[in-house]
Amino acid sequence: MWDPLVRGLHWGLATCVIAAFFTRHGPEIVHNTAGYIALAIALARIVWGFAGGEFARFANFVASPRATVNYTLAVLGRREPHYLGHNPLGAWMIVALLFSVLVTTGTGWLLDTDAYFGDELFEDVHAFFGKLFAPMVALHVGGVIFTSLRQKENLVTAMITGRKTTPDN
Ligand code: HEM
Ligand code: HEM
Repeated sequence: MWDPLVRGLHWGLATCVIAAFFTRHGPEIVHNTAGYIALAIALARIVWGFAGGEFARFANFVASPRATVNYTLAVLGRREPHYLGHNPLGAWMIVALLFSVLVTTGTGWLLDTDAYFGDELFEDVHAFFGKLFAPMVALHVGGVIFTSLRQKENLVTAMITGRKTTPDN
């Protein structure tokens, strides 16, 4: 159900963000290059979120606040429905991750220009969102593992092969 582009962009984005994170104190060439590739991938994923197929489109998985609260309550009550695509909580984490990639790489790009080189505000924003990836990715992967256990299906495998085994709703 995850098309090849969704899967390829995901693992490419994860690799670049992780590489940029661990090279934040250098080497600069790796940090900046990984960051720029992450920006290109995030932009491509955002376009695909409007132009892609059923499971790729944001309109089909970004849930309303009410639906998200209801899903959260259902998880706490151990009665949450199974989603073939992203569930509402996972979807909001996806939005947060993509947003943070744009802010981090956008400010990184500005810091790389003559006009904003050394700009303290952009440095602070860049470092804040850049470091925010550590807790966000931990939550993201934690959510993936939690949901995999609860739904008894390996979501990581699904993001590699594009297949899920439980095709209800
Ligand atoms: C910096 C690191 C990461 C970023 C920025 C990131 C970002 C994202 C994004 C944007 C999506 C949405 C996929 C789409 O519809 O295109 C997603 C989904 C997913 N990610 Fe990551 N990811 C990261 C790391 C990881 C890692 C390390 C794993 C492995 C455990 C992982 C497993 C998944 C899975 C399984 C999904 C699908 C969730 C579902 O079934 O709803 N991600 N991630
Ligand atoms: C997702 C991609 C990126 C992540 C996760 C990230 C993360 C970070 C973090 C956490 C820092 C702060 C280091 C510290 O103060 O301890 C940093 C610094 C920096 N990054 Fe990035 N970065 C990314 C992309 C980029 C890009 C695309 C550029 C520019 C081409 C860039 C340029 C810089 C520069 C110039 C600094 C030093 C700023 C300073 O002196 O405080 N980064 N990055």
